[in-house]
Amino acid sequence: MFNPYFLMTFLYVALAVLGALDASLTHFQIMPVLAGLRWMRVHFITLGALTELAFGILPIIAALRLKLPIPKIRWDIWLTLNLGLLVLLLGIPLVNGALITTGGTLIFIAVLLLIIQLSRLRAPQSETPPSAGRKFYIAGLIYLLLGIIVGTGLWQGWSTWLQIKVPIEVHIHANNWGFMSLLFAGLLVDLYPGFAGRDLQWKRSITPIFWMMTLGALGLVLGPWFQSNLFSVPGLILHLSATLWLLLNVIKPLINQRGSWSAGMFHLVTSYAWILAPVLIAPLIILQVPGFPGAGIEQNAPQALIYGWVLQFGYAIIPLLFRRFFTADTQPRLGGNWFSLLAVHLGGLLLWSGIFLPESQAVLHGLAYGLWFASMLPIAYELWQIIHAGFEQGAAPAPARHN
Ligand code: HEM
Repeated sequence: MFNPYFLMTFLYVALAVLGALDASLTHFQIMPVLAGLRWMRVHFITLGALTELAFGILPIIAALRLKLPIPKIRWDIWLTLNLGLLVLLLGIPLVNGALITTGGTLIFIAVLLLIIQLSRLRAPQSETPPSAGRKFYIAGLIYLLLGIIVGTGLWQGWSTWLQIKVPIEVHIHANNWGFMSLLFAGLLVDLYPGFAGRDLQWKRSITPIFWMMTLGALGLVLGPWFQSNLFSVPGLILHLSATLWLLLNVIKPLINQRGSWSAGMFHLVTSYAWILAPVLIAPLIILQVPGFPGAGIEQNAPQALIYGWVLQFGYAIIPLLFRRFFTADTQPRLGGNWFSLLAVHLGGLLLWSGIFLPESQAVLHGLAYGLWFASMLPIAYELWQIIHAGFEQGAAPAPARHN
C-alpha cells in the first residue's frame, strides 16, 4: 500500500544521515558551522523521521486492532504537517518569528486532526477490544501539542507570559518523556506479539504502565515549568519505573530464547540505556557537585538522547513497519544489523566521554557523529531496498494480521 508518510520518513532519515556527517566534519573543523543546523539535526530525527512515521502508521495500527478497514490517507493532514515542517525548516535558521509561528501552528493543527481521527475510530462490534496502544498514542500526541506550543514560542518570549521558568527543558521533556516515550510504549504494546512471536510478560501491567508514564511525564514537564523538584522527582520515579516495567515485559519472555535476540531486538532494548545515562547523572547536576561538567551535559545530553535512544529505536522499528505495510513481506523483522548496533552505541559512549574530557572534546565528538553517521548507512540502505521492493511489487501487501 502506498503511504506518502513513508517516503517522507525515508527523506528525513536521509537528511539525518547528512546532518550527522556535517556535525562530524564541523567538529574536525573540515566544515564551518552552519546556522540552524544544530536545530535541524535533532528535528530531522524527531519531527522528520519519527513524527512522519507516527502520522503514517498510527491510524492504520489502531484501525487493524479494531478490525476496521485501513483508513484512506488523509491528504489534508499530510499537507498540513509537511507544509508546517518546510516552513519551520526555513524559519528556524533565519530566526524569523512569523515563519516559526506559521510552521508551529500548521504542525499543531496536523497533530490535532490526527488525534481527532484516532479518537473517532470505533469498533463495529462492541466486543472488539480497543487497541491497547491507542491510549498511549493519543496521550503522547497531546504532549506533542504542548511541546509544539512551547517550542514555537522558545525564541519569541512566549515563556514569559506562560510563566515557564526553564522553557527549553519543558519543550524537551514534553516531547521526549511525553510524546516519544508514550509513542514507543504504544508501539511496543501493539507490535511486540507480531515481531517477538509471543505476548508481553504481564498483559495486565499495560494500564498501570500507561498511567505511570503519563503522570510521570506530567511531573517531568511541570518540574522545569515551575523549577521545582517537587514535581520532577516523583515524575522521574514514576516514569522510570514504568519504563523499566515495560522493558521487563519485553525481555522476560525472551530469556533463554537465543534465536529471538537479533540485532534489531538488541537495538530496541538497549536504546533505553541512553535514557538512563542522563537520569543517573541528574542528581549530581541538581546537587551541583564541584568539578562536574553540568553545563556540558545540558549542552550535549539531548543530542545523545536523540541519537542513542530515539533514532536507535527507529533503526529497529522503521524497517519493520516499512516491510509490513509497504511490501508483501509477511515475516515481521526488526531493522538494523550488528554493525549499526556497535556503531550507534560507540558513538554514544564517545559523545559522553567528550563531555568529561573537554580538552579532547572536538575529536571525541567528531568521532561520535562520524560513528552515528556510519550506523545510519545500513538502515538507510535497508529502507531504500524496502521502498524499492514495494514499488516493484506494485505495493500491494496483505495486512491480515492483527497484532
Ligand atoms: C513544531 C514543533 C517544534 C518546534 C517549533 C521546536 C522548536 C525547538 C527550538 C526552537 C529549539 C531550541 C534549539 C536550540 O536552542 O538550539 C528546540 C530544541 C529541541 N527540541 Fe524541538 N521543536 C519542535 C518539536 C520537537 C519534537 C517533536 C521533539 C522531540 C520529540 C523535539 C526535541 C527537541 C530537543 C531534544 C531539543 C534540544 C536540542 C539541543 O539541545 O540541541 N522538538 N526545539
